[in-house]
This record gives sequence, structure tokens and C-alpha cells, in this order.
Amino acid sequence: MAESMKGLKRSHRCTEVSNALIGNEVTVMGWVQKSRNKGGIIFVDLRDRSGILQVIFEEANVGSEKYAKAEKLRSEFVVAITGKVAKRAGAVNENIATGDIEVIASDIRILSEADTPPFPIEENSKTKEELRLKYRYLDLRRPDLQKNIMLRSKVATLTRAFLADEGFLEIETPTLCKSTPEGARDYLVPSRVHPGTFYALPQSPQIYKQLLMCSGYDRYFQIARCYRDEDLRADRQPEFTQIDMELSFVDVDDVIDVNERLLAKLFKETIGVDVSLPIQRMTYKEAMERFGSDKPDLRFGMELKDVTDVVRNSEFVVFKGAIDNGGSVRGINAKGQGAMPRKKIDALVDFAKGYGAKGLAYIAIQEDGSYKSSFAKFMTEDEMKNIISAMEGEAGDLLLFAADKNKLVYDVLGALRVELANQLGLLDKNEYRFVWITEFPLLEWNEDLGRYQAMHHPFTMPMEEDLEYIESDPGRVRAKAYDIVLNGNEIGGGSVRIHQNDIQEKMFKALGFTMEKAYEQFGFLLNAFKYGVPPHAGLAYGLDRLTMLMAKEDSIRDVIAFPKIKDASCLMSEAPNIVDEKQLEELGISIISSDDIEE
Ligand code: AMO
Ligand code: AMP
Repeated sequence: MAESMKGLKRSHRCTEVSNALIGNEVTVMGWVQKSRNKGGIIFVDLRDRSGILQVIFEEANVGSEKYAKAEKLRSEFVVAITGKVAKRAGAVNENIATGDIEVIASDIRILSEADTPPFPIEENSKTKEELRLKYRYLDLRRPDLQKNIMLRSKVATLTRAFLADEGFLEIETPTLCKSTPEGARDYLVPSRVHPGTFYALPQSPQIYKQLLMCSGYDRYFQIARCYRDEDLRADRQPEFTQIDMELSFVDVDDVIDVNERLLAKLFKETIGVDVSLPIQRMTYKEAMERFGSDKPDLRFGMELKDVTDVVRNSEFVVFKGAIDNGGSVRGINAKGQGAMPRKKIDALVDFAKGYGAKGLAYIAIQEDGSYKSSFAKFMTEDEMKNIISAMEGEAGDLLLFAADKNKLVYDVLGALRVELANQLGLLDKNEYRFVWITEFPLLEWNEDLGRYQAMHHPFTMPMEEDLEYIESDPGRVRAKAYDIVLNGNEIGGGSVRIHQNDIQEKMFKALGFTMEKAYEQFGFLLNAFKYGVPPHAGLAYGLDRLTMLMAKEDSIRDVIAFPKIKDASCLMSEAPNIVDEKQLEELGISIISSDDIEE
């Protein structure tokens, strides 16, 4: 039977009980990790969020009420135990903080009994993630998840303190908003009061934070929940959290400065990592050319090399065709992998095909300097020599080439580079390599829509030196946009915003918007700009991604208390779910059969 807390007060968390308290009485409360009876003495490992403490019930207590209770204990019972702290009589446990002490129990209350959990509550669980997510409240008891959730809390607390110190105001913005296209798909919420209309959940507080700048708040931040209905991956969730900020009267360098200091403080004070400032900056163009990615992982080399000019006159149709089509031929050198078995190389070719490549050409240089190659037969010996030398190929190296439109070549080799690094164990989770990516293109061409789309969002400021091309050659205009990248992950991004009407109009034109349509969608922001708008800029981090990297995890689910799975559902609560007919009626909604919904 569960007892009450009446008259009882916890004096310490488990691992707050230390050597300094030897001889003192303490009251600790928590879950029974395990309990074992060793010939009269009962050992109980008590667990709370701080860790584990050993409690013993001495043989002399046999026959007492408290001993009888101790005998009943099973894993996950919730108990309160009072006793005296003593030096451990038995063997010292080096693995836990309280390994050389124990509490000799004088009293115990069973606050709650527990069924046997569906999986053991322990570190490095081998339990399938699906089962753990179904019983997330139990999974969250495990020390590794508790560490992650506590780390996340610390990041949020430190961020608040730092930004408040820097003159930022924490201001909340609505989560029932107006749907604005551009960006990911919105989550919609039907209105009962205005049947047939919908709110959208915010993809980010972007427009509101710009309005707050118009309203004179100068420096804003918010730890904001954002919603995006997009395909999920290991580093994406349908709802996620941003550390979001906006500043007035600033330019790129001001935003970067305050954020570098924030990052340095966060990494130092949570995981003891020194971030050396200033953080390296790299233009988008350089990142693509050297790493095939706008989020390059700088922990290893294996950079892309452009061999277009070297193979321009070769007869190999794959290379020739790509070059004639305005594309390029580029390669990476997987050092020391020349002896890779054919099967593994074929798997790399398949991997490349997964990214849209038509194939992957290779030269495997053997230790004796001879080579095996998928395309040597189409090349002269000199041409082979030149391409190997352009790739700085040496005995024992594996050279891999993609030939296609530039974007595809970058995608394929960028992904292949990371895949190889993964396979070769080049990715050290203890190393943190930051880089700012700057000078992003303002616009990117969308084949499906047949028009340009904002690469960041429609309010991003073009670079002054490129403004003249915004009408004549929109694709070449660079933006005052920046991403902060850590170990190949985009952990944050932002931009300087347009605050001049004429530039904003040109931007909408480039996006194929009439001004009427722009006003229809963003009227409240454009109108606000008419009444005096300060130059402003901002940035948002993905808090989940940031914490994931700090915690050295591979999935953001491991740093979110109640995450969703790949199909955006929650295995524990079973959301999303059907609702009462009556609720639908009130909303004026009727469900058509799922067969009628187009995929
Ligand atoms: P952006 O769209 O780049 O910028 O988002 C900022 C950061 O949020 C994180 N992020 C995500 N994390 C988890 N799951 C997702 N589905 C997801 N989508 C994005 C990323 C990303 O870098 N309003 C602008 C910011 C600005 O301009 O100030 C914005 O939202 O880490
Ligand atoms: P094929 O003549 O089609 O057998 O191609 C010869 C070699 O070129 C094979 O190793 C293919 O995988 C490779 N290949 C085909 N298309 C491409 C491409 N677009 N880029 C790089 N290699 C390719």
C-alpha cells in the first residue's frame, strides 16, 4: 500500500549525499534501481535524477516492520528512506559518485509500488527505440536521457541569462497564426468561430519578430516552438524548438559577434569545450566547391577537386556529355582506399545513385602504382596520368568521380565524402568544428514552380554589390544571409532583412509575386514598414540540433522529452487521432474517405 509524505521532507538528492555527510542523518527519495538480499543484509540501490546511492538494511533489523518493507522492494518502487551516512563497509564502487559511502536505513516508507517495467531502466539500453518511445515516461528515467534533458535545460537557462545580459527582451509571439506559403508545408488549425477558415502553426516567429523591431523593442529573443510539416529525418521533427533572436540597427558582423560569444559560453559552461573565436567564415561558393555542401563537415579533408579542364578533350562520353551540357567533372580522393574490394566500391556507386547520380567513375591505384578503373578504356594513358595527378593520387588511393550538372555533382560528392568519412571512422564526436557560411544566393530556381524561390525567406537583404542584378540576373544575387554550421550540421541560420520598400518590391517581383499578392500574404508586415522601420537582422538556432551535438547523439529524438517518429506520430499518446463527430460538426468539417485524398 502506498504511504504518504506526511511529516517527511527530503534532505538531499542521492548523489548530494557525500563523504562530508558521514555520521549525519539524511532522508532520500527515489526509485529502487535494484534490491538484493545478501544473507540478512538487504542492499538497495536508490535512484533519482542525480544518480544512485546505496542504502542498506542491517541484519539486526530482521523481524522489524521496516525490514519487512525492505524485503518487499522491487525495481521501480518509489521509496523514502531515512538513515545515517557511513563509509561503505563492503567493496567501493568506482562507477558511481557515491561509490564509497552508503546510508544505513533507520526508516523507510513505500510511496508507490510498481509493476515490472517492460524494459530495464538502465544506461545504454539495448531495448528497441519503438518500445522505448511507447513507454517514453519510463525511457526518460534512464540516466542517459536524463543527462540529455538536463543538458538541454542548462542550454536554455544559460541562453536566457546571456541574452538578457546583452539587452535582449524575451517576448512571446502567437502560435495561432496566418498561413503564409513559401517554406515548408503548414500545420493548420480549423477555426470554430469562423467556419471554413484556418490558423497555421508558425514555422518560425519570423514575421512577428520583425514587427517587434518595427515596434522599437530593439533586441528580442524567444525560445520558440516551431512547426513544419515536412519529411522527417534524424535531424528533423515536425515540431521543434528555436532559440530565436532579432536585433535592430545592426549588420552581419554584429549578429555574428553576439552569437559567437553565446556559443562560446554555452559550450564552455555545459560540456567544457573551448570554442576559439572568431569562428571561421566561408562563402557559400567556397563551401560548395571544396565540400559539395553548404554545411561542410570540417573535421576531415577529402575535398572535391574540379577536373573538368583536365578531361575536357577526352573521348569518354560520360565526361564529355556532362561538360557539353554545361556541367562539370569533379572527384574526391579517398586516401589509402585503393585496395577497397569491388563490392564495396559498387555499394558506393549505388549510394551515389541514391543522390541522383547516373554513375560513379573510379580509379583504384594499387600499391605497385598500376590501377584498376571503370573508365580507363575510354581514355589515353596520358589523360589517365593527368587526371591522377590533378587528384594528387598516390599508390593506394581511391579516386571517385561524378560528371553531371554542377548541383548534382556537388550533392553526390558532398554526400559521398561524408559517407566515406563515416565508414572510415574519421568523425570524432569530441571534436567541434564550427564555420559560418556566408553570401548565400538570394534566390534558387525551382523547377517544379518554374520560378525563383527565396533561398532563406522573402525578407532577406541582397548584398549591396549585387543589387543591380536583381532584375536582370536574379540568380547571381548574393544575400546577406548566414548559417552557423557545426560538424556538418546546420545548427542555425539568419539574415539581414530588407527594410527598404523599393528593394522589397524588387524581391517580390523576382519571386514572381505581384504587389497585390504580396500584400494579401504579408500585408501586415509591409504596412508596418510604412511607419518607420529600423534596419534589422536576426538568427535562429535549432535548439534540438544544438543539444544533440553537445550530447554527442545521432538523433534529435534523444534530446527531446516527447519526440515524434518518422511518420510524425507519437507512439505514446497515439497522436494524431480521430476526434468526436461533434467536434467536427462544430468546426464545419466533414472527412472524405482517405482514398479520395491525393497523395
Ligand atoms: P531556418 O528555417 O533556417 O531559419 O531555421 C533555423 C534553424 O532551425 C533548425 N530547424 C529544425 N530543427 C529541427 N527540426 C526541423 N524540422 C527544423 N527545421 C529547422 C535548424 C535551422 O538552422 N526565421 C528563420 C531564422 C532567421 O532568419 O532569423 C528560420 O526559421 O537548426
Ligand atoms: P558506362 O560506359 O556507362 O559503363 O560507364 C563507365 C563508368 O562511368 C562506370 O563506372 C559508370 O558508373 C561511370 N559513370 C556513368 N555515368 C557517370 C556520371 N554521370 N558520372 C560519373 N561516372 C559515371
